[in-house]
Amino acid sequence: MEFRGSHILSVDQFDRGDVERVFEVARKMLPFTQRKRVTRILEGAVLGNIFFEPSTRTRISFGSAFNLLGGNVRDTTSEESLSLAKGENLHDTASVLSGYCDVLVMRHSEAGAVAEFSSQSRVPVINGGDGANEHPSQALLDLFTLDQEMRDKSKRVDGMRIAIVGDLRFGRAVRSLCGLLSVFDSLDVRLASPAQLTLPETLKEKLISQGHTVHEFDSLEPALASCDVVYMTRIQTERFATAKEADLYRGRLRLNRKIYEAWCDPETIIMHPLPRDSRRKARELDEDLNPNPNLAIFRQTDNGLAVRMALFALVLDVADKFEENAKAVPWYRA
Ligand code: NCD
Repeated sequence: MEFRGSHILSVDQFDRGDVERVFEVARKMLPFTQRKRVTRILEGAVLGNIFFEPSTRTRISFGSAFNLLGGNVRDTTSEESLSLAKGENLHDTASVLSGYCDVLVMRHSEAGAVAEFSSQSRVPVINGGDGANEHPSQALLDLFTLDQEMRDKSKRVDGMRIAIVGDLRFGRAVRSLCGLLSVFDSLDVRLASPAQLTLPETLKEKLISQGHTVHEFDSLEPALASCDVVYMTRIQTERFATAKEADLYRGRLRLNRKIYEAWCDPETIIMHPLPRDSRRKARELDEDLNPNPNLAIFRQTDNGLAVRMALFALVLDVADKFEENAKAVPWYRA
């Protein structure tokens, strides 16, 4: 794909070469995320970071990523604070905001809303999550992390066995992950979810048509045997008609130390897009796994910064320039 000036809306835009290009640029961003070096390549540029749903990682890491490239960030965290609340539509909003900013990131509760917004934007729009539909930057950071974790174990993403667990129906992180997994080779994918929350057929078919093996389970344990990776997700309570309905599924598929030790390989990597639901009724990923060195969840969040810096650098066409005037940082960093 041509990154320069493009909207990033869906993982369907990426082929294997595009994914490798994002990884290559993200690896070069690591000295910057680790505060070993500093760049001002986006000095003067403005990011409009527009989030209409709760977000800790995605909003703040997109903002920090832009700051680390030297740009300025303008955050909007509610629909009510914009003239959308006065009846303005997404198209007019996009026409206006794209005059104020050089790039926009948007999270919206409705599937397709970010694409609709982007159709009237004069600057690149990155999808920070649209309803239950897609979350492309999450899938890229998940695969970037997986690539590193597998290399650390002298393995490869191609050919890996991965269990994907939880709310596979409404989870946009899982949907984008499954879409992006398709570009890799010969995967053994085990999908574990309550029977009512299975992955949409189109995504299963896409994986199968690309030559991957797909098996479905309605419990956790049988999906775990000899897995390289287990990717847990939370029940997406906000996508159900009532919280009571979501309660039927919360806490049904849980990974904890006891289950890990009984069913997983000692090397199995544990991932989760976060937030994990740590309330007693849910606990899909128990905190008793925190000391496990294979728990990659905070390496995922750290990598989110590098991957999002890479996306900005690519769409704003500075991916081959940002190292030129980079400097060592003078401040203390633990
Ligand atoms: C995910 C999301 O918002 O879709 N969170 C995130 O961005 N890391 C996953 C979730 O909320 O369950």
